[in-house]
Amino acid sequence: MSRTRKAGFIICFLIGSQLVRFCLENMFLYEATSEDTIKPGKAERALPAASEYTQGSRYGIHYFYKSEGFGNENWNPYDVTLVLHGSVDRLHRLIEITRVWRGPISMSVFAPAQDASFLDDAIDGLRLCWTSIRKTTSFHIVYPTTAKGNTSNIGSFVYLSCKDIIRRLRRKVKTDAAEKSIPYPHNVMRNVAHKGVITSHVLHIDADLKPTARLRDRLLEFLKLRTQTNNQYQARQKDLYILPVFEVRHEAGPIRNKTDLFSAFEKRQARPYMQELCPQCHKATNYELWFRSSSSTNITALHTSYTVRNIREWEPYFVSVRKRPHLDERITSYGHDRLVHMCELQANGFKFHVLSDEFLLHHGYRNKATMSQNERSRKEQRTNFYSKFIKVLGKYNYVGSKYSKCYH
Ligand SMILES: *[C@@H]1O[C@H](CO)[C@@H](O)[C@H](O)[C@H]1NC(C)=O
Ligand SMILES: *[C@@H]1O[C@H](CO)[C@@H](O)[C@H](O)[C@H]1NC(C)=O
Ligand SMILES: *[C@@H]1O[C@H](CO)[C@@H](O)[C@H](O)[C@H]1NC(C)=O
Repeated sequence: MSRTRKAGFIICFLIGSQLVRFCLENMFLYEATSEDTIKPGKAERALPAASEYTQGSRYGIHYFYKSEGFGNENWNPYDVTLVLHGSVDRLHRLIEITRVWRGPISMSVFAPAQDASFLDDAIDGLRLCWTSIRKTTSFHIVYPTTAKGNTSNIGSFVYLSCKDIIRRLRRKVKTDAAEKSIPYPHNVMRNVAHKGVITSHVLHIDADLKPTARLRDRLLEFLKLRTQTNNQYQARQKDLYILPVFEVRHEAGPIRNKTDLFSAFEKRQARPYMQELCPQCHKATNYELWFRSSSSTNITALHTSYTVRNIREWEPYFVSVRKRPHLDERITSYGHDRLVHMCELQANGFKFHVLSDEFLLHHGYRNKATMSQNERSRKEQRTNFYSKFIKVLGKYNYVGSKYSKCYH
């Protein structure tokens, strides 16, 4: 081969590999074509009156916001919906989550004041650039009636490319909610997202968590086997299926199944979620037992390993039927909101079964440096936190022998 031809080959190869690299790097940014940008809206719109008010008109809610023809693929009513909530700075999490969860998602978004403009733009942008979000996700807006959602500033995403949209979504650090110190109504948000579900089962997670890519298929298969007939479905209505949660170091390799997880765990690249900030929150899950109870019996079938009875201070994540008690919206104190719900479920005969092989992930270790004020005071004053919880139970009438099991 002549030297010029050789040089030619090398140059072609270099250009080609750069092109491939460029495409790969941008692939996830461009599910739609790179020409897609947001076009200006026709006329300025105001938010119509809320479709529902909750808590004696304290919050206005719009279910299925801008959802005509969106997020409503003809789902099988027999399916699991992923239920999420967050303020507008959590919206970018959907990009990562919908890459692994291909089923229905119901998300409630807290959008007081101008956060509603941002949300309105963000929904258009997310739907334009990420087909999976367009197909699977429905949005429900919540705002306090004292700081009504305001969409007068829409259009800030006009002519942005998908790449810029993702940047904008990540950059929104100071929300109007934070700026005006508007408290985030956790249980209202959870209930609103839950009410937007149209399938038989739900899985509530926090926006920071992530399912594995295979979780959905495994769950569907599992639920189908377990509740094939109507009789079985009735009998299983009070079964809750717990998913252990792990936090994973950024440098850990991909974790697709329990085997991968275990080796990351052995290498000290994964550990139980909140181990440093709130070990008691997940202690009852019994991670040690979970690792030991491997699926030696049938590695192809998901099953439940054991049942948890002592739910003291426990805040697990689980799959349940949609028809279950709602969270109590009167309870707003941090941590107590979910603990009271656990009591309510147990008091109503729900059973906590831990799934053998599936789990949720949190990217990055939660350590003291990332602790919120609420997390800090709970950690530093655990006894105080717990005695306040007992008072909350009394105050809202969660009393009597029915509830006694949850704090003994
Ligand atoms: C919405 O925000 C704009 C600009 O900040 C303000 O002029 C307008 O009065 C607000 N509308 C309502 C209904 O609060
Ligand atoms: C888990 O995934 C790894 C690849 O990441 C694979 O080699 C292994 O066989 C899988 N284990 C099971 C039990 O599916
Ligand atoms: C294991 O589970 C699969 C899928 O549910 C099932 O088809 C298979 O028969 C089971 N095998 C055994 C040995 O039980």
